[in-house]
Amino acid sequence: MSRSAHPAGPRHADVLPEGHYTAPPDDLNELNPRVWPKTAARTSTGSVTVGGVDVKDLAEEFGTPLFVLDEADFRARCRAWRDAFGADADVFYAGKAFLSRAVVRWLTEEGLNLDVCSGGELSVALAAGMPAERIALHGNNKSSAEIEQAVKAGVGRIVLDSFQEIVRVAHVAESLGRRQPVQIRVTVGVEAHTHEFIATAHEDQKFGLALAGGATQPEAGGGQAAEAVRRVLKLDSLELVGIHSHIGSQIFDTSGFEVAAHRVVGLLADIRDEHGLELPEIDLGGGLGIAYTPEDDPSEPHEIAASLREIVGRECRGAGLAVPRLSVEPGRAVVGPSACTVYETGTVKELQGLRTYVSVDGGMSDNVRTALYDAEYSVSLVSRSSTAGPMLSRVVGKHCESGDIVVRDAFLPADLAPGDLLAVPATGAYCRSMANNYNHALRPPVVAVRDGGARVIVRRETEEDLLRLDVG
Ligand code: LLP
Repeated sequence: MSRSAHPAGPRHADVLPEGHYTAPPDDLNELNPRVWPKTAARTSTGSVTVGGVDVKDLAEEFGTPLFVLDEADFRARCRAWRDAFGADADVFYAGKAFLSRAVVRWLTEEGLNLDVCSGGELSVALAAGMPAERIALHGNNKSSAEIEQAVKAGVGRIVLDSFQEIVRVAHVAESLGRRQPVQIRVTVGVEAHTHEFIATAHEDQKFGLALAGGATQPEAGGGQAAEAVRRVLKLDSLELVGIHSHIGSQIFDTSGFEVAAHRVVGLLADIRDEHGLELPEIDLGGGLGIAYTPEDDPSEPHEIAASLREIVGRECRGAGLAVPRLSVEPGRAVVGPSACTVYETGTVKELQGLRTYVSVDGGMSDNVRTALYDAEYSVSLVSRSSTAGPMLSRVVGKHCESGDIVVRDAFLPADLAPGDLLAVPATGAYCRSMANNYNHALRPPVVAVRDGGARVIVRRETEEDLLRLDVG
C-alpha cells in the first residue's frame, strides 16, 4: 500500500506521519463490499445493519466487544466453495479459523467437510453431528488421547506429520481393530509470500515430512516423505489414501500451489513406480487470502478451483497418472469476511501533529492478529453516519501494552466521540478462535444474525468463568 498526501480538511499536521495508509475514502460512511459481510448496509438513519439487525440493538442487547457473524454470508461462501469444486472434489473447512456447534451444523448442511487439529475441535465437531467420515484430523503433535479419540470416532482421515506419528496411529488403530485411512503431509519447499509465522511449506519448520533431502534415510532414496510412504505401506492398520500439502496462509496467487502440485504429483508418480500403487487423493491445503482492507483483491472460489484443477490435471497428464480426487481446506476464505467486531469507543486522545488514538473496549484479547502478524484492517463508525472530515486514527485496545493495536492506520470521522460504536470487518477468522484472557479480559460472544434475527452462538465469558478456573 502507498502513502499519499491528505486532501482538503485534515484534522492533523499537513505532513502526515509514517504509516500504512492510502488517502481517506471519499465517503467515510461507505461500507466497502470487499471487506464487509454481504448483508451489511447503512440505514437511512445512519446506523449499520448486518443480517437485517441494527448494530446499535446488538450492542445494547449483547454488549461490546461483540463478534457479529452473518449466517447468510457464511452459508453463501460455503456454497461458493462447494459449487466451485464440484462433486468430484472435497472442501474441508479449516475449523481453526473459527469453530462452534452452529457453524458445524451450517457446514454439514452446506456439504462441506471439516479439518480439525485438536481433540477440542474434534469434540465440537462430533457434538454438533458432523459425520466422522467427513472429518480430517491434523496436527504436528497429536497426543495419543487425540489419536484414540479420532480413530474410535472413525474420522475419514488422519494426516500424518512425522515418522513417530506413523507408529502411534498404527498402534492405536491396531489395538482398536481398525484400519485407519491416512494421508501423509509433505513439505514441498515452497516459500509462500506471506508472513513468516503463517508460511508452512518451506523446509525449516515444524510441519510435515520433506519431499527433498532424505536426511533421515538417505540410503533409501528420495526424501522423508518417500520413506514415510514405505513405512505406512508396511502397516496393515493404516490405509494410505493420499498426500497432503499446505503451503501457508493469506496467499493471493496460485503460483505456490502450482509448485506444490507439481511436487506432490511427482511423489505420486514415484510411489507408482516404486510400489505399483496410484494413490486416490491429493489435498492442497488451505491458505487462500481474503480482503482485510479495500486494497486487497482476492480471487473468487470458482477462479481458484478452475486454476487448481487445471494445474493438477496438467501435472497428472504429464506424469501419466489418473487424476486423483482433489481436496482443499479453506478456513479464512470461508469465515473471515462473514463477521465483524463491534466495539464501543472510549477515550479519544489527539496527539498533535501525529494522529488520534481511539481506544476501544477490546483489543489484543479479541484480535491478536495486528500485534502478531502486523495484520491490516479497516474500521468504520457504525452507530451513526457523519459528515465530519477524516481524522487519521489508530484504533487501540484497552490492554496494558503499547502494541495493543487493533487497526494501525485508519481514517475515522473527526467528530468521533466516546460512546460511538465502531466495527472492524473481516474478523471472522482467527480472531475469536485466538482470543485470550490477557489482563483477565472476558472473551466476547459471537452472535449470529440472519433475516432480522440475532442469536448468541458463543456466549460472553463472565468473571465467574474466570474465577471458576482459578481454584486458588
Ligand atoms: N489446512 C491446514 C493444514 C492448515 O494448517 C491451515 C491453517 C489451513 C488449512 C487453513 O488455512 P486458511 O485457509 O485459514 O488460511 N493464525 C493465523 C493463521 C494460521 C493458519 C494455520 N493453518 C492467522 O491469523 O493468519
